[in-house]
Amino acid sequence: VTSPARFTPLEVHISLVGRKNLTREIYRQLLEAIRAGRLRPGDRLPPTRELAKRLGVSRTTVATVYDRLAGESVLTPRVGAGTFVSEGAAKAAAPAEVAGHALRPRPAWSGVPGRTVGNLYRTAVEFDFRTGVPDVTSFPFAIWRSLIGREIRAGAEGVGVYGDPAGHRGLREAIARHVGTSRGVHALAGDITVTNGTQQALDIIARILIGPGDVVAVEDPGYPPAWRLFEALGAKVAAVPVDGQGLCVDALSPDTRLVYVSPSHQFPLGVSMSLARRKALLEWADTHEAAIVEDDYDSEFRFGDRPIEPLQTLDTAGRVIYVGSFSKTMMPSLRLGFVVAPPSLGDAMSAAKYLADWQSPLATQAALSHFIDGGWFARHIRKMRRIYQARHGKIADVLTADFAGRLDLVPSTVGLHVSAVAPGASPDQLHAVAGRASTIGVAVHQLANYSVGARRHAGLIFGYGAIPTESIEEGLHRLRGCFDDRIGG
Ligand SMILES: Cc1ncc(COP(=O)(O)O)c(C=O)c1O
Repeated sequence: VTSPARFTPLEVHISLVGRKNLTREIYRQLLEAIRAGRLRPGDRLPPTRELAKRLGVSRTTVATVYDRLAGESVLTPRVGAGTFVSEGAAKAAAPAEVAGHALRPRPAWSGVPGRTVGNLYRTAVEFDFRTGVPDVTSFPFAIWRSLIGREIRAGAEGVGVYGDPAGHRGLREAIARHVGTSRGVHALAGDITVTNGTQQALDIIARILIGPGDVVAVEDPGYPPAWRLFEALGAKVAAVPVDGQGLCVDALSPDTRLVYVSPSHQFPLGVSMSLARRKALLEWADTHEAAIVEDDYDSEFRFGDRPIEPLQTLDTAGRVIYVGSFSKTMMPSLRLGFVVAPPSLGDAMSAAKYLADWQSPLATQAALSHFIDGGWFARHIRKMRRIYQARHGKIADVLTADFAGRLDLVPSTVGLHVSAVAPGASPDQLHAVAGRASTIGVAVHQLANYSVGARRHAGLIFGYGAIPTESIEEGLHRLRGCFDDRIGG
């Protein structure tokens, strides 16, 4: 498509209210806009007549300014076409002064990564074991494009108006069916709020349930975007250890108001919470009048044994809020997730979503509802499950055969990553291993990066969303060479 940007004159903002020397003011403000990059080389300025009329000055005043800036090589007049910002104009105009250091964020925001998170997955890696990304090479993009295309035309449902903060009705119904059949979650469409991913789900849940200073318990090691969010909202985050059965319920402090857990596939260790532990947690929450947030981010990809029921399904007291995401089953860039809340929270969930951003993009929600209803979602999951299972099995086989005494696999049968602990090594030694690996094209995350409290865990996490099955053996072979003989047995 040809963009009209270079032919349409820009609506330059110039304010002459309370100004005396009008020529100087117009000159100064145009130059400032070019210095600051608001006007870019090639941009077309308004015709002198038009700008003069808008500012209520004579045409000569504007023409004088344009002539002066052209004389300084900042603007270039082109006969019959208009006046344009010159190539290299920013250089001709002196650098802008740097201002804006007066305001500071509240202390809770220090240490929360911001700009750097955008770089995390930017570099391509030869053997990529990083966690957090699905494989989208097999995604049915052509179907997705046509479903999205149907929603972005005049006359499509909801175009041009604000909608229900809880989400697109058809999508909420499709989600209720999906979690009901695939996970046994008890949900009606009315219990569901569509969110911009798990992240927004946690944000609105915390806003309606947690006040400053309230204790929120999280698994340690755990998911940084979750516990950092609770902390940024003013909660006191308590790091609770995880053992082979999941979160250690005995270690919860009695004043805890909310417990955030990933029972199906603990992030990052990969443990599945035992049935006994699930029951103990539910009982604990009921006794202490606390809420449980169940993050079920990747359990659609289950390879083996029969799954244990979600906390939400076992809950009879209305204390569990179930959170799901389309980041693994579809793709993270979609930013769609959902909450299944007990009826007592339904209105507040909608209200919090409304105050956060009114609604998630409706065209995407509608397209996703058709993608699910049409069977493409289930088909994609089935296909990816086979692929991920093969990768999971390959990693488990190679780790068991070649890393004995160095890495112990944490058994798991679900998701997009497996973890391995290194009982004979220190986190620093593992850091050195990962560092050496990165120089020979192998990227792998360390467990120590997911510590919440003071204890650092020695181990590695192997994501298999990004790595093709046929590259796994060579990648792990290279990694094996990065282990010093003094590490482990
Ligand atoms: C524990 C956990 N929860 C949730 C998510 C998904 O988050 P979102 O839905 O915000 O993309 C991830 C993704 O890596 C995760 O690891």
